[in-house]
Amino acid sequence: MKKANVLIVDDSRSALFAVKALLSPAGIRTVTASDALQGQEALKKEQFDLVITDVDMPGISGLEFCQWIKSNPETSHIPVVVLSSLDSDVDIENGFRVGADAYVPKRLANKELIPHIESVMNKCTFVKNKTILVVEDSKTIQMVTKQGLEDAGFNVELADDGQHALDIIDDVSPDLLLTDIKMPRVDGNELCRRLFKNDKYRFLPVVVMSSLGDKPMMRRLIREGVTAFIVKPFNVDLLVVTIEKLLSDHFQRMLEERERLVREQKLTVGSITSLINALEARDKYTSGHSQAVTRLSIAIGRELGFTDTETDRLQIAASLHDLGKIGVRDNVLLKPGKLTKDEFEHIKTHTVVVQDILKPLHDMEDVLIAASSHHERWDGTGYPNGLKGEEIPLVGRIIAVADVFDALTSDRPYRDGMPMEKAMNIISEGVGSHFCPTVGAAFFKYMKTLKKGNLS
Ligand SMILES: [Fe+2]
Repeated sequence: MKKANVLIVDDSRSALFAVKALLSPAGIRTVTASDALQGQEALKKEQFDLVITDVDMPGISGLEFCQWIKSNPETSHIPVVVLSSLDSDVDIENGFRVGADAYVPKRLANKELIPHIESVMNKCTFVKNKTILVVEDSKTIQMVTKQGLEDAGFNVELADDGQHALDIIDDVSPDLLLTDIKMPRVDGNELCRRLFKNDKYRFLPVVVMSSLGDKPMMRRLIREGVTAFIVKPFNVDLLVVTIEKLLSDHFQRMLEERERLVREQKLTVGSITSLINALEARDKYTSGHSQAVTRLSIAIGRELGFTDTETDRLQIAASLHDLGKIGVRDNVLLKPGKLTKDEFEHIKTHTVVVQDILKPLHDMEDVLIAASSHHERWDGTGYPNGLKGEEIPLVGRIIAVADVFDALTSDRPYRDGMPMEKAMNIISEGVGSHFCPTVGAAFFKYMKTLKKGNLS
């Protein structure tokens, strides 16, 4: 967490002490105040990154204090976390109504306060450091706006009119555009129209500066995609608050979108697991194979320094690597003896079938390509595409090792599973021809730690 300066306001000394004790290990500097008046004084004297306030206090209540912070231009940007023993739905709603950024019941403080602070601070960091492209032909307004927005922590780029904005927008890559309407060459109307036609800028938040008489035009522009208006002459503090609010709503939508994707992915993985179980139920000898391959693949990925996200993708790819066998006929899949050439050709299709089955899923292309490459060989003699060396996705190369190792050590209808040592020798002989040397090394490193672990 970024080193922060936090003001804690509570009339209970023990509560102040407890919150301080929670925040200090996170490297947060804290200042305490025993009522809202003291809190207001502290805010006038010093810059704070966050305020944590109790609700029920003598004199000014925590909610009134929060409202004061949010309505005062000097402090409105400071996030407020309400920490209260009042935690009914109505209490929480009242907290948000006065502008609180988070509401944490005191009984949950131990567990929830730090995550809430992190989330509120991340949101603020997200909102700050954003680039705003100001499109305005008046040098005076350009100057005042630039100054005000920069003071509030935004990066500001200037354009003298709509044409100038269109010329530089790709380089500037703004997070929000603030534009005047009446300008030479390309005016604000035309600028908005051209931006909203462009896929890249269709969802760019746009704030239009206009005069009061422009109401019909405002309505039309909102319909076309403009996010908000600010009426001239405006005070820069109001502009800052408006922009912070828009970017923070945008952040909220992004968070919601991310949560939706995570939910969707969980659902997808759940459905895939059911499919795998259905597949493995056909053949008692391969039941549990996908799980074993997944476990070993993850271990190899860890040895290779995979991040959590990379491990998640590896996990999905490994668990569905043989899903395409759903399309393989029973008399071939379950045949106890050696396969004929045609039967082998038929079984080979499982690497491609998995892609066909799961093609409709969003955002899975890398996983499917990786899963379908688990029978490619380092020397280029594998299938389905005869890929060679690093042409084979790393995840596919990992699954290849885990797949062969599990197959060798598991029982089959026509033979018992091999001892681990023998299977490891076979993998070792295949490194450089069948298997990727880097993945092979990671596999042996993992197996060594596993053996050590077993002995101790
Ligand atoms: Fe396979």
